[in-house]
Amino acid sequence: MSKIQVTYSAIKANSQGSEKHRSKGPMTRRLNKHPQKMEDLDNKAYRILAVDDDSTVRDLYEGILKANSVLPGIPNFELTCCAQGDEAVEAVKRSFKEKSPYAVAFLDLNMPPGPDGEWTAEEIHNLDPRITTVVVTGYRSTNASNVEQAARFSDKLLYLQKPFHPREIIQFATALSIKWRAQKQLLTMQADLENLVEKRTAELVRSNRMLKIEIVNRKRMQQELQQSFESLKKAMHSTIQAISRTVEMRDPYTSGHQQRVADLAKAIAEQLKLPESQIECIYMAAAIHDIGKISLPAEILVKPIPLSNIEISLIQAHAQAGYDILKGIEFPWPIADIVLQHHERMDGSGYPQGLAGENIVFEARIICVADVVETMASHRPYRPSMGMDKALEEIGKNRGVLYDPRVVDACLKIFQEKGFELPS
Ligand SMILES: [Fe+2]
Repeated sequence: MSKIQVTYSAIKANSQGSEKHRSKGPMTRRLNKHPQKMEDLDNKAYRILAVDDDSTVRDLYEGILKANSVLPGIPNFELTCCAQGDEAVEAVKRSFKEKSPYAVAFLDLNMPPGPDGEWTAEEIHNLDPRITTVVVTGYRSTNASNVEQAARFSDKLLYLQKPFHPREIIQFATALSIKWRAQKQLLTMQADLENLVEKRTAELVRSNRMLKIEIVNRKRMQQELQQSFESLKKAMHSTIQAISRTVEMRDPYTSGHQQRVADLAKAIAEQLKLPESQIECIYMAAAIHDIGKISLPAEILVKPIPLSNIEISLIQAHAQAGYDILKGIEFPWPIADIVLQHHERMDGSGYPQGLAGENIVFEARIICVADVVETMASHRPYRPSMGMDKALEEIGKNRGVLYDPRVVDACLKIFQEKGFELPS
């Protein structure tokens, strides 16, 4: 009996003794004590390749790994024994076809007449770099090429000194198999992760492309809408100007009144730094604020003498008439309400509703001041111009009484400080 066999027999006896001892306990306790066996090893045997020209040693491998793979904490092994290195290389090739790769290969160093263990290790490494090869040698080599080879294989080529202890084989087989499985799982996870990243990247690229197309479409739609809006606005301006001129054609003595009021109201609104849209609204409403006069008899409009009370009442009805004309038209602003209220006064003394203060829409309060200033500063059929000074004195005197103080201040500022002049 060789030294190796003696040592193995002792270990086997111990193992069997341990097995006997453990068999007294329930199986579940044993499994719970070693959950690693269930989790890490996945109940699948690790394939081990043992290569040695000595059949006694091959039997030894078989005895060690088969006997101990039933022990707790030690995985199941499926052992393949070969007598020569080239047989081992063929076994590794077959394992690819069988889709059942080896985890560890124990290789004898000298296996005459075939190639040695280091040659076999290199061939196996070239076929499957994941297999860890353990060269089992009976002597310590001083050959420098061994060092180079070890460096090239890194942690995939290990050396074990003969005579080995069976426990060393079990420890190597167990640790290297678990490491092999962990590396395999790591590679699988890495591949999964790479696939996921690739998939997500493709999705992102696709989404990005769709987003770019969407942005281009939206920009084009926005441009088309803007163009459409601009042409609608132009059409609306032209219509308002046409209405304004129609009204004034019947009242040649006040020709240009609405346009001048519109210019002044716009200047006041700009002085008040109102939003652009609101300024546009004020300008539009002012340009047709007297549209209701179209319902009045032309004789009243051109009468060169002061009007009677009845005629004044008729004239005052133009605010409501203007509202009635405009209320059905869908402007983007409350033009009809502004026209209705342009003769209201802050103290409630105006018409047609006698509204006061904040109840009068702000745009109407601006047009009101512009209307008063323009009217007083212009000639009328029944009187000559009262002059701009008189007009400004009127709004200053009734600031906060008849007229909105903010509007009055803005109006006075543009005339007195900014040199604004009403167009002739
Ligand atoms: Fe008016």
